[in-house]
Amino acid sequence: MCGIIGAASSRNVGKLLVQGLHKMEYRGYDSAGIALHQKDNIFNLRTLGKVSLLEDEMIEQRPKSKLGIAHTRWATHGKPSKKNAHPHESGEVNIVHNGIIENYLELKEKLVQAGYTFESETDSEVIAHLLHQHFQSKGDLLAAMHEAIKELDGAFAIAAIHIKDKNRLVVARNKSPLLIGVGLEENFAASDPLALSQLTNEFVFLEDGDVAEITKESYQVFDRKNSPISRDVTEIDIAVNAVTKGEYSHFMEKEIYEQPNAVANTIDGKLGDDDVLDNIFGLGSSEVFSKIKRIQFVACGTSLHAGKVGRFWFEQIAKIPCYVDFASEYRYRDPLVEEGTLFVTISQSGETADTLAALRYAQEKDYLSTLSICNVPTSSLARESEHVLFTNAGPEIGVASTKAFTTQLAGLMLLAMSIAKSLNKDKQNRKKLVHELRNLPKVIEETLKLSNEILSIVPNIADKHNALFLGRGMFFPIVQEGALKLKEISYIHAEAYPAGELKHGPLALVDDQIPVVALSPENTLTEKLVSNLEEVKARGGTLYVFGGEKAKIKIERGEYIQMPECSELLAPIIYTIPLQILAYHVACQRGTDLDQPRNLAKSVTVE
Ligand code: G6P
Repeated sequence: MCGIIGAASSRNVGKLLVQGLHKMEYRGYDSAGIALHQKDNIFNLRTLGKVSLLEDEMIEQRPKSKLGIAHTRWATHGKPSKKNAHPHESGEVNIVHNGIIENYLELKEKLVQAGYTFESETDSEVIAHLLHQHFQSKGDLLAAMHEAIKELDGAFAIAAIHIKDKNRLVVARNKSPLLIGVGLEENFAASDPLALSQLTNEFVFLEDGDVAEITKESYQVFDRKNSPISRDVTEIDIAVNAVTKGEYSHFMEKEIYEQPNAVANTIDGKLGDDDVLDNIFGLGSSEVFSKIKRIQFVACGTSLHAGKVGRFWFEQIAKIPCYVDFASEYRYRDPLVEEGTLFVTISQSGETADTLAALRYAQEKDYLSTLSICNVPTSSLARESEHVLFTNAGPEIGVASTKAFTTQLAGLMLLAMSIAKSLNKDKQNRKKLVHELRNLPKVIEETLKLSNEILSIVPNIADKHNALFLGRGMFFPIVQEGALKLKEISYIHAEAYPAGELKHGPLALVDDQIPVVALSPENTLTEKLVSNLEEVKARGGTLYVFGGEKAKIKIERGEYIQMPECSELLAPIIYTIPLQILAYHVACQRGTDLDQPRNLAKSVTVE
């Protein structure tokens, strides 16, 4: 992953670059570094740990410069350390890199033979030496970049500076997000527009194979064939309050409480009086949907859980079979594509490498069409899919996904309804769902009020090492999501099971040291679930159950928290909320760095 940023300006850029890194810490935060062009040298500073440590050193040293690059790292090759932090140097060149160079060992061997010495264990360092090598023959950083990237296999967003080039930054992109920010008497490059949100609202998104030179006065993009090319300028207004915590202690907390609004924004403008509107997934989408026979979902992490819930809705509402795959596995099993299959990717960032690679693989296959449910309109996934629904959740900064998930679910429900409409199925149910969807933000608000009740069970979970999560039907993916939330931010080992599977193994774990969290909504599976929970009680287990009025089970050890009344089909969205709140408070009690949990990153742009 990693975040890279570069600036060429008529003012000092050190502070701007560090501020930009702070906004990209969601991409990685195990080490950080900066390289600044100075009169006849390059100031290079690298620190182990978060960006704030780099900032402290910068405040102490106060280097002045109008041209620079910087980096926040999520380690892939080589442990987090000062040596492995970027920018990497090779003589007069300094570079920052996001991505993975797949043929780095081969390149390293050649470079060592040519006399280069490697200081780090990273794959990225080969880029610095390659640039240095090509600069020797070309005498120009831009020409050297054109040559160097011809030798690189893999994914990269690179920014480079050279001692002899005091005004110019050179960047290159392949399969890793990179854009130019256009300013007044200054121009920038970054992995994410968010990094530049206080500097400009005009962005040029680079494409794979692009190289660009950037000075304070201008920029020029070159395509794969080295021909100058003009790429569109996109205006994006990123509200500054969207990237600050405001009154909340953590971004995750803020994002949990933003869910009523976020979901309202997802459905806004998509519903008529009694039905979903036509073509909400783009012009011609309703026509394409009338030919659908199957759906293939592909996603990672939390987004995958959304797809697993979606499967139930598509089979119940649109009456079409649905498959769900891990993006990282999908293309390696040589999938058979049945006629009339819609390929759907789900992704908050729209930049997850495995999901993007799956889409590109699917484009070569015989799918009916491709569609993505995505939160970032400018992302690669959104740009490369034939149809898109933006979830409009606003920037999500906390690594643990919350509002992105519930808005993805709302988007999937809209998709199920749209397909059902195009296939003429289930009109009555759709009418009911339109009203229930409109009411959804209110029910989410009600659910958020359970926070105090949830707080009362937190101490009983925060001191444990393991937790078991149980649910049935479409609530199984919801408990998977609940277990994922708990483990990623509190570091408590949490496993999720369909409650009916309990007796096939996990029941052996049940004792008074393992809290069992269960979802017991009112539906056709309620009685069966309650019987499964009785099995836990009979073994002296402690139960924390979130359920509906009628699903109430008598609990001697543990707690029953009653959920607000809600629509049966939309209940997975509602039942997600208490599990988010629970994970959040457990992590707070354990004192973890929950917005930036250890070893994780928000946007995973490497395979
Ligand atoms: C990372 C994040 C998860 C996220 C997953 C997929 O692992 O930490 O929160 O669910 O990537 O990300 P995407 O942006 O594709 O939804």
